[in-house]
Amino acid sequence: MHILHVIGARPNFMKAAPVLRALTAFPDVEQTLVHTGQHYDAGMSDVFFQQLGMPEPDFNLEVGSGTHAQQTAAVMQAFEPVVQQGKPNLVLVYGDVNSTLAAALVCSKLGVRVGHVEAGLRSHDRDMPEEINRLLTDQISELLFTPSRDGDENLIREGIDPGKIHLVGNVMIDSLVRLLPSSEQFFSANVTEPYALVTLHRPSNVDDLGWLRELLAALSDLSSHLSIVFPVHPRTRQRVNELGFSNQSNSRLRLLDPLPYLEFTALQRRACVVITDSGGIQEETTFLGVPCLTVRENTERPVTVKMGTNQLVGRDVLKLKRAVIDIVQNATGGKTQRRDSTCIPLWDGHAAERIAQIIVQCWTR
Ligand code: UD1
Repeated sequence: MHILHVIGARPNFMKAAPVLRALTAFPDVEQTLVHTGQHYDAGMSDVFFQQLGMPEPDFNLEVGSGTHAQQTAAVMQAFEPVVQQGKPNLVLVYGDVNSTLAAALVCSKLGVRVGHVEAGLRSHDRDMPEEINRLLTDQISELLFTPSRDGDENLIREGIDPGKIHLVGNVMIDSLVRLLPSSEQFFSANVTEPYALVTLHRPSNVDDLGWLRELLAALSDLSSHLSIVFPVHPRTRQRVNELGFSNQSNSRLRLLDPLPYLEFTALQRRACVVITDSGGIQEETTFLGVPCLTVRENTERPVTVKMGTNQLVGRDVLKLKRAVIDIVQNATGGKTQRRDSTCIPLWDGHAAERIAQIIVQCWTR
């Protein structure tokens, strides 16, 4: 059986790595890895392959950046001949990025089966490009691998045949479970505790320069309470440069280049609080029991809020500042909010093995 994996952007890499690994246990499975090139900077791509122990891609479509239409169309055009020549039995797509939808669309038109890893997540906010990618990818997938029960419920509500849905758990947590112990040696000694770890890259936060300016000012203010480490995504870096923002040399707010997986994981584990708009980081902080403040009005990962580690602060800098100060005071006053590794069913490091088993069973039935 021939399985082709499609990855393109940073959060895809830690989701695909454990699935590739788990499928190597089945000698009859041939695997092909296609990188669309949606993310192309070495710091956004190559270093993740090295640290996650992923094989070199068999194909790199080198589509790069562009508008949504340009990027999606470029993946579709470049990917179609790869599928036509490779004749895979199944194409696995990951998460909610443009490359995911583009590849799924190509396959559905060619009559090739698609498996969607991380199916069923919904923010119910159709202004997010990722929500459109999730909705459409799920509609045209034959195998839907969900990370949590709410994913199943969303899919059933949308009329998806329950026989296609498989609750397997969270593959991103598989990578975290495997690499957390070795991440410790990558902890940067230059960071003084307590510190907040920040990531922001959603268009709704960084493309609105007025709002981004407010957020940066809030982070500057907060740096009088704790150190702030902010690895900056390329999209955000462009906007920060447009604003002409530079932090004072004596400031405890440090803007860094994007960090590799192990360095970031080490920082995340020891953070007093994480401030983010990323989806995956809401999940990782939940697993690690680290308080997370999500700078969004909604989340497609409500389970992280239910577990109590994640709080939505929306578009409200006062709420953000108050929440950070509360967390710092509780942490330094000994009333720590940090929880023991929070246990969501099936977030156990074995989701990819379950996916591999299901795929192989489907093909040998
Ligand atoms: C994409 C995903 C988002 C995911 C994020 C993780 C979509 C719709 N969005 O957003 O869901 O959370 O990846 O990072 O697929 N750029 C570089 N170098 C790179 C990649 C990007 O400089 O290696 C710059 C380019 O100027 C580009 C911009 O960042 O225009 C945005 O990149 P893009 O891939 O369009 O979307 P992301 O914001 O990264």
